[in-house]
Amino acid sequence: MNREAIHVSEEKLIEQKAYMAKVKETLTSNKTYHIVTLGCQMNVRDSETLSGMLEEMGFTAANTREEADLILYNTCCVRENAENKALGNVIWLKELKKDKPELIIAVGGCMMQEEGMADKLIRQYPFIDLIFGTHNAYRFPEYLYRVLSDRQQFAEVFNIDGEIAEGLPVKRQSPYFGFVNVMYGCNNFCSYCIVPYVRGRERSRSVEDVLDECKRLRDQGVQEIMLLGQNVNSYMGGGANFAELLYRVNALEIPRIRFMTSHPKDLSDELIYAYKELEHLMPNLHLPVQAGNNEILEKMNRRYSRERYLELVMKLRAVCPDIGLTSDIIVGFPGETLAQFEDTMSLVKEVRYDAAYTFIYSPRQGTKAALMPDPFTIQEKTERIQRLIDLQQAISYETLLSLVGNTEEVLVDSVSLRNENAVGGKTRRGHMVNFEGNMNLIGKTVSVKITSAGKNTLRGELI
Ligand code: SAH
Ligand code: SF4
Ligand code: F3S
Repeated sequence: MNREAIHVSEEKLIEQKAYMAKVKETLTSNKTYHIVTLGCQMNVRDSETLSGMLEEMGFTAANTREEADLILYNTCCVRENAENKALGNVIWLKELKKDKPELIIAVGGCMMQEEGMADKLIRQYPFIDLIFGTHNAYRFPEYLYRVLSDRQQFAEVFNIDGEIAEGLPVKRQSPYFGFVNVMYGCNNFCSYCIVPYVRGRERSRSVEDVLDECKRLRDQGVQEIMLLGQNVNSYMGGGANFAELLYRVNALEIPRIRFMTSHPKDLSDELIYAYKELEHLMPNLHLPVQAGNNEILEKMNRRYSRERYLELVMKLRAVCPDIGLTSDIIVGFPGETLAQFEDTMSLVKEVRYDAAYTFIYSPRQGTKAALMPDPFTIQEKTERIQRLIDLQQAISYETLLSLVGNTEEVLVDSVSLRNENAVGGKTRRGHMVNFEGNMNLIGKTVSVKITSAGKNTLRGELI
């Protein structure tokens, strides 16, 4: 059950604001920062708050790490390679600091919440100035003040679930697109996953706080919002469930609403029906299946069957025939046989996702699956995932081809790096379209006739 969220008290927030002012006073010259964000959208959103706090403290953004006076790593530990990437980067920073002893290195994020990880970094990497976790990120100004005043390594990680801090400064990545957290943490304990251990139990923001943030974004001209949570559809904020929250957000008239991630076990009929009813809810849904075989789904503790998942897909397509579905899939869960993997292949053929993010299972210490016998070799798993990637690419391409000739509503979000007369944007369903146009179109919604399909993107003409 989703527990009532506890908020960081007003006094504690005022205290942090005071630290922001103190840091600003301490800075004698122009100082710059660079944040490297690893992992999922939750981390991207957290980095927006950390950037906001840094700017409030007088820092300005630097485009590269080499130019920055402060480098912050916001880490992820969902798979071993995410962790290795963070560690590899941090070791590289040691060299950078040799030439630039004044450089401040800070490391935060999910990896710091892993048992023993902060202690390991303290012992092995004394050149890191500041270590903090996800639950105490709102205290970053205080920690930074200490580091600047004492010039000593400082580390603090909380093992209790984070309280929700409202009203912190934010520096958004884009003026047209906004991430809005609706809940934090996860209660599902899928047997392979470390997220519940590092992000704590589910806690939802209040409906009012979510709506206030959305309204502010709308008033600033944001065209698309993404409601975020590890498991958004188990949202329960002050009596409203996620479907009810969506209806309220839809009424704000922000042109485009998306959300992620949904767990299939919590996908209610009410939420499915919202795809028919809500004009601003975009026809696309990330609904990770993870595996297509019932025994594996059970061992993963996903709490739905292949049949139930396919039934949800059918219901979604019945209310919204052009809905684009995307998925996460794990290959090589401990003991997954070739025949069980073939069930994933057949499910992918049946669902026909727009895209699927595929991962080779990575054992995470402390999770149940890490203790399960795993007789299959990495070569076998690599061959399987390659087959899955090839299958999904073929399906994605066929889907894109089927859209040629359509006229699509595109929200323009980028200009091509290679050609300043080419812009790109997303269709309502979430496909990327490139077409001729100038950068004045960025942030606008236009009609584009689709003329051809590439492997992952569409090409079109402005009409
Ligand atoms: N809360 C979201 C996503 C969490 S992590 C959800 O439930 O879907 C994103 C994806 O990483 C997961 O969907 C899963 O496919 C993958 N993942 C998580 N733990 C993993 C592990 N130990 N090995 C490989 N992939 C993993
Ligand atoms: Fe991990 Fe499962 Fe929670 Fe997603 S729902 S974060 S995969 S435990
Ligand atoms: Fe990684 Fe943390 Fe997200 S572990 S996937 S950054 S919640």
